[in-house]
Amino acid sequence: MNIDLRDHWFLGGVEIPSRLVLAPMAGVSVQAFRRQGRRYGAGLVCSEMVSVAGIQHRNERTLGYLRVGADEHPLAIQIFGSEPAAMAEAARMVEAAGADVVDMNFGCPVRKVTKTGAGASLLDDPDHACRLVEAVTTATSLPVSVKMRRGVENGSRRCLEVGPRLVEAGASSLTLHPRSAKQMYTGTADHSLTAELVSLVDVPVIASGDVTSRARAQAVLATTGAAAVMVGRAAQGNPWALREMMGDDGEPTREEVVAELVLFMRETVRELGEQRANGFLKKFYGWYLGRGRFPKPLKQELVTLSSADDVERRLFEVAPGARFVLERLLSELPDPADEILLDSLPISIYGGG
Ligand SMILES: Cc1cc2nc3c(=O)[nH]c(=O)nc-3n(C[C@H](O)[C@H](O)[C@H](O)COP(=O)(O)O)c2cc1C
Repeated sequence: MNIDLRDHWFLGGVEIPSRLVLAPMAGVSVQAFRRQGRRYGAGLVCSEMVSVAGIQHRNERTLGYLRVGADEHPLAIQIFGSEPAAMAEAARMVEAAGADVVDMNFGCPVRKVTKTGAGASLLDDPDHACRLVEAVTTATSLPVSVKMRRGVENGSRRCLEVGPRLVEAGASSLTLHPRSAKQMYTGTADHSLTAELVSLVDVPVIASGDVTSRARAQAVLATTGAAAVMVGRAAQGNPWALREMMGDDGEPTREEVVAELVLFMRETVRELGEQRANGFLKKFYGWYLGRGRFPKPLKQELVTLSSADDVERRLFEVAPGARFVLERLLSELPDPADEILLDSLPISIYGGG
């Protein structure tokens, strides 16, 4: 069966224009990453997980995660927490911030999160998980989706028991990353569970895990019946993976790589501030320039430079033609002033840390 990734589908009442979803990734899914994902074919993009405790305390950095760009839609903002009232308040803030979907994190395997009763630990407490979904769906008119793992323990099939209950509690969509929390990112995602989940619920299911190519995306869609595939690590510093999945030319020229990296850097500096962005960006140099695109010493040199301006200058030295590609990219982007800000909240454009 040949599946068209350009097909649209609906998450609740929200039209999603393709069957590719860009994964929420903490420390990666900044606005620049999401906007880029939309340009390269993702039909839906997600924020990284946002702490409802941080929202409750009006932590400025946390509130910065609620900033929505005009060219990101449709966008899901993901929240994590374990307290129904706090989750409900966070959902209202997500709606006010201009997101299209509220996503709930029931998959994070990290101890710092699970020990508070949030993330993947909720799969071991389905009654409470359902209370959280009920609280959030009552608080917002946006569709609510839940992202989960297969269960906490290796080999667990808990998602098949919990998933249908979450739908009964009001979830409009489920995303399954069929690894256990214990597995973290080892082994492989077992999408036979995704197929089972699809057969048990009447809402769209998004398949997450190990989708790295067009062939793999089509195989996962065909064998699971999922509405969409989610792409995470394959898209880190590599929007061209999304382009390949959509059926267009995959490998970029060196000029395209440098132009996208420079655009990403500029937007990230604007979003996070220069100091925070400098540290944040270092991992992206290897992701963009690796894969045999540039010699290794270039990345090693870039991480030693102290400012984004210096990195930009060096990149234009190695690929001068990238300036023209960047000019074209910039001319196609909407005005950054089109960001939606929560005007009642202390979010400065350059703020957040
Ligand atoms: C660096 C990193 C951060 C992640 N952060 C989140 C997160 O904030 N919320 C979430 O639901 N999943 C998170 N994930 C899981 C991904 O969304 C995705 O389910 C997982 O990486 C499997 O997909 P992949 O094989 O395409 O990477 C994260 C994954 C990575 C690698």
